[in-house]
Amino acid sequence: MQHFEIVGGNRLKGTIPISGSKNAALPIMAASILVEGETVLHNVPDLADVRQLQILLGRLGVKAERDESGAMHLRVEDEMNTHAEYELVSKMRASVCVMGPLLAKRKRAQVSMPGGCAIGDRPIDLHVQGLQALGADFEFVNGDVLLRVKKLAGADIFLGGPFGASVTATANVMMAASLAAGHTIIESAACEPEVVDLANYLNACGAQITGQGTPQIAVEGVETLTGTEHRVIPDRIEAGTFMISAALTNGDLELEGGRIEHLRAVVDRLRQVGVIVERAEKGIAVSSARRLEPVQITTQPYPGFPTDLQAQAMALLCLADGNSMITEKVFPDRFLHVGELNRMGAHLRKAGPTVMIEGVKKLVGAPVMASDLRASAALILAGLIAKGTTRVHRVYHIDRGYEAIERKLAGVGANIRRRDD
Ligand code: EPZ
Repeated sequence: MQHFEIVGGNRLKGTIPISGSKNAALPIMAASILVEGETVLHNVPDLADVRQLQILLGRLGVKAERDESGAMHLRVEDEMNTHAEYELVSKMRASVCVMGPLLAKRKRAQVSMPGGCAIGDRPIDLHVQGLQALGADFEFVNGDVLLRVKKLAGADIFLGGPFGASVTATANVMMAASLAAGHTIIESAACEPEVVDLANYLNACGAQITGQGTPQIAVEGVETLTGTEHRVIPDRIEAGTFMISAALTNGDLELEGGRIEHLRAVVDRLRQVGVIVERAEKGIAVSSARRLEPVQITTQPYPGFPTDLQAQAMALLCLADGNSMITEKVFPDRFLHVGELNRMGAHLRKAGPTVMIEGVKKLVGAPVMASDLRASAALILAGLIAKGTTRVHRVYHIDRGYEAIERKLAGVGANIRRRDD
């Protein structure tokens, strides 16, 4: 196993290239199950989760390989298998995105229930309800969801859940509806840029989807979809993480390829904190004032403040000049980073889905434990500003969603190394 060793105190300065979006690439790769012929995807990040999905797709008869330029080529070679087994799905929840495509194209989908998650309760009832509304029969078999259908038929579907829209449930229903007979309306659909990117890929394959990016998506089913070439959007969560690294270290960064229009709620909060964020020629420019103002943040589905930047924002507000508050409205239990930040000298008090943050003058380096992808990013950010050395253990969490983060940070002046335990 490996850990990151970080010596804090360096000001970050320079340019960081933003990678392709993990949460856009994964559902688009799963959508290749629906199409005839070859799909070529550009800007697919080199991440553990992407490699994990390549393995699952391989089991499902989809050849998914990169060429020497790094482009991902996907082609269905065998449509026999319709079972996404526990052994694979339990490693990566986003595997659930094969459910809609398998059902629509192969008329059967047996997908293991993903099981427990560090960030909290994550049921898939909305996925099942949406696919049942398109005509699927549902059965629960030994921990698996089994869906079967003769022919999917378009329907009006309300997909709102207790915490608002669901990103991957919207993706699953939209993918299935693309090959269903007739017209589908998805009400309370997720509006995330990753959902828009998936819809744009499907439309380039011949689908008829409109309203993507709004809470009401309309799909006119078609007979077949044909492979195409597509460039995955940049990763807004990676860009947001680096924006916060500049704010924390009083830095000056340009995030090459980052899209400011995908991060408006984040930019709004950072400007309230006193950070300067602007559109730049090649992406986003971020520089930080000396004093950080305290603010209140509430996470919400897009276009609200993303839950995937909640932990990183908490690390920032630990150093604000006053008391801040963060309320987590998407995954109310997503706070495993709180205890670890307090080990570094933060003053955080949790009460239900809210954390009170009393700003401190400094954090101190300590050995800390990563628990999930975004919590581990927050611990790295805290290590960049902490006095002394921080060791972030279980970095396999971070390799799931950040491409070569230590190389990118070291490239702009951070003192960070990957070490074997
Ligand atoms: C996606 O997960 C992202 N993952 C998550 O990013 C992200 O945190 C999340 O959306 C919210 O933005 C991918 O895109 C691969 P949801 P998803 O369904 O689709 C409840 C990261 O760090 N819900 O939008 O699984 C659910 O419990 C990951 O990259 C139901 O109740 O999230 C949650 O409270 C972590 N029933 C809320 O909805 C359902 O059937 C939103 O979850 C589905 C969801």
